[in-house]
Amino acid sequence: MEKKEILLLQEAERKRIAEELHNTTVQDMICLSQQLELILLYIDQDVTRSKLETAVARKRIKDIISEMRETIYDLRPMIIDDIGWQASFERLRDKLLCDNADLCVRFDIDAVDQSDGITAISIYRIVCEGCQNIIKHSNAEYIDVSVKNDGRFIKVCIHDNGDGIEDEIVFHKNHFGLQFMRERVDALSGKMEIVSSASGTFINIVIPTEREVLK
Ligand SMILES: Nc1ncnc2c1ncn2[C@@H]1O[C@H](COP(=O)(O)OP(=O)(O)OP(=O)(O)O)[C@@H](O)[C@H]1O
Ligand SMILES: [Mg+2]
Repeated sequence: MEKKEILLLQEAERKRIAEELHNTTVQDMICLSQQLELILLYIDQDVTRSKLETAVARKRIKDIISEMRETIYDLRPMIIDDIGWQASFERLRDKLLCDNADLCVRFDIDAVDQSDGITAISIYRIVCEGCQNIIKHSNAEYIDVSVKNDGRFIKVCIHDNGDGIEDEIVFHKNHFGLQFMRERVDALSGKMEIVSSASGTFINIVIPTEREVLK
C-alpha cells in the first residue's frame, strides 16, 4: 500500500471514531447535563422527584462508562493478544446478540497464525465492520461468519440474509467501512468480492498466508 493510501485510511478511521464518540458519548453527556439542570430546579421543592432523577442520572453515568470502556477496548490493537483469537470473536458475537436479541449469529472460526502481528487483527476488524454493516443497514435475520484456514489461504465469508447492498452505494464517498475492508485486504495481498442481491449479501475474502506470499 502506498504511503498516501495509508494516510487516507488513517484519516477515515479517525473520522469514524470521532463520529462514533459524537453519536454516543457526547449525546449521552448532553442528556445528562440537562437532567442535572432539572435536578437543580427541583431540589428544593420536590425532594422525591430530584432523588428519582438523581438515580436515573447515576445509571446514565454508569452506562456512559461502560460505553467508553467498549470503545477503548475496540480501539486497542492488542485485543487478540489479551483475550485470545477465539475469545475475541465470542466477545463480538455476544455483543451483537446483546444489542440485537432476535438476530441469529453463527461464527465458525479457524485458528490463524498471529506471528506477523497484522493478519489476525485485520481479519478481526474486517469481520467487526462487516457485522456492524449488517446490523446498521441490512434488516437481516441472520449473520453467518466463517474464517477457514487451509494453511495456504485464509478464506473469510461474511454472509447475511438482509436487503442487499444497492449497487450505486458501494464505495460511496463518506462511507468508509467497505473501503476500509478492501484496503486492508489489499494490504495483505488478498482479494475481496461482494455478491449482493435482494436476498442478502456475501462478502468473500481470500488472503494468502505468509507461506503462500513467500512462494
Ligand atoms: N450487509 C449489508 N447489507 C445491506 N447494505 C449494506 C451492507 N453493507 C453495507 N451496506 C450499504 O453499503 C453502504 C456503504 O457501507 P460502508 O460500510 O462503506 O459505509 P457505512 O456503513 O454507511 O458508514 P461507515 O462504515 O463509514 O460508518 C452502507 O451505507 C449501506 O447502504
Ligand atoms: Mg460501515
